[in-house]
Amino acid sequence: MQVRTLILGAGAAGLFCAAHAGPDVLVVDHAKAPGEKIRISGGGRCNFTNLHCDPSAFLGQNPHFHKSALSRYTQWDFIAEIDARGIAWHEKEKGQLFCDGRATQIIEMLTDKLVATGATLWLETEIGEVAHSDGGFRVVLRRNGRDVTVLAQNLVLATGGKSIPKMGATGRAYQIAEHFDLAVTETRPALVPFTFADRRFADISGVSTPTIARADGPAFDAPTLFTHRGLSGPAMLQISSYWQDGQDIEIDLMPGHDIPSMIHAARQDRGRQQVGTILADALPARLVAHLSADLRLERRIADMSRVDCDDLSTALHKWRLRPGGTEGYRTAEVTLGGIDTDGLSSKTMEARDLPGLYAIGEAVDVTGWLGGYNFQWAWSSAFAAGMAIAPS
Ligand code: FDA
Repeated sequence: MQVRTLILGAGAAGLFCAAHAGPDVLVVDHAKAPGEKIRISGGGRCNFTNLHCDPSAFLGQNPHFHKSALSRYTQWDFIAEIDARGIAWHEKEKGQLFCDGRATQIIEMLTDKLVATGATLWLETEIGEVAHSDGGFRVVLRRNGRDVTVLAQNLVLATGGKSIPKMGATGRAYQIAEHFDLAVTETRPALVPFTFADRRFADISGVSTPTIARADGPAFDAPTLFTHRGLSGPAMLQISSYWQDGQDIEIDLMPGHDIPSMIHAARQDRGRQQVGTILADALPARLVAHLSADLRLERRIADMSRVDCDDLSTALHKWRLRPGGTEGYRTAEVTLGGIDTDGLSSKTMEARDLPGLYAIGEAVDVTGWLGGYNFQWAWSSAFAAGMAIAPS
């Protein structure tokens, strides 16, 4: 069979591209339902964009590549789509926008748009051999136990990254890209919890505290959650995108607190108490107990010299740890790295050396922070490709 445009992957990017690339579009996916990650995202309410969507919130080998698509289809454009559909939303914090109701409303909006443009969606369809011939693409699809060869003028790679294989992630876009001589940058799990082989935080699993954390990148002001296997919570997920094996991370456990002043002020009427009791005014008691031996928090306040106070302040504001690893693709929200943007047009997402081949969404080497940025990249990159493909 022949179509004008074949889109591989019916996730956020593939569905949104289909809604704009018409007519004569076929979208295929091996899953039973489209947009599965949208469905489970944001605790079932989908953090679909961020009010403060700014290019600095994205990582990739080329720090400028994503700017064009993000500026031509912005967070305000997607909010307008959501509003037009009548989907109620709210800002949770830090510009993060969530549906008031279920995330499935967004999937329904996308699939309705897809149907309205006359596009076809094939689910439970495996992608077989992919080739380029006679100025177009030849893709073998396996569906209902039969092979169907599809000839397409445009081929859009929208199968996402490798995160959460259990949800159908395969990294297939990378293989196809490489088959067509597009480079793929090193990929690794991102927005992912850290692990420590010695399970040193098992005793305080479930404790969460406000922190400012950094790895080899910007600092993030957000909670850290201690877990059986290591460290999680928004601060850790954010810095995991900047962390490499073997590096330390640094956590400020008491942001905004002047520890020497706290101890000094307590000296008068609480001098006999242990230092830990002062810290427990600002930190969860279980965390104070956990840190007690290492930081000698049983010392009496009155016995703390100025140097002791400064040392304790440094230890708590610049707590350095070396994670053993991360939870990996099993739980990572996204994949860092991907199809090298050097080979793509930032305006259209089309391969520079192979007209008709497009790559969008998470498959591309553009990764956003936690907080709705990754869906915004999916919408913006899909829109860029869709507009380039749609006949003018
Ligand atoms: P996506 O992964 O969505 O879609 C790819 C599609 O291709 C899937 O439908 C898959 O089945 C299909 N596919 C893969 N391999 C295939 C193959 N070989 N053959 C056929 N089909 C194949 N982001 C955000 O901004 N806000 C949020 O709240 C969240 N929350 C969140 C929670 C969790 C648990 C995860 C795992 C991720 C998030 N994210 C997020 C990230 C966000 O989900 C992600 O960035 C986008 O879904 C990427 O959209 P894509 O369409 O590029 O890939």
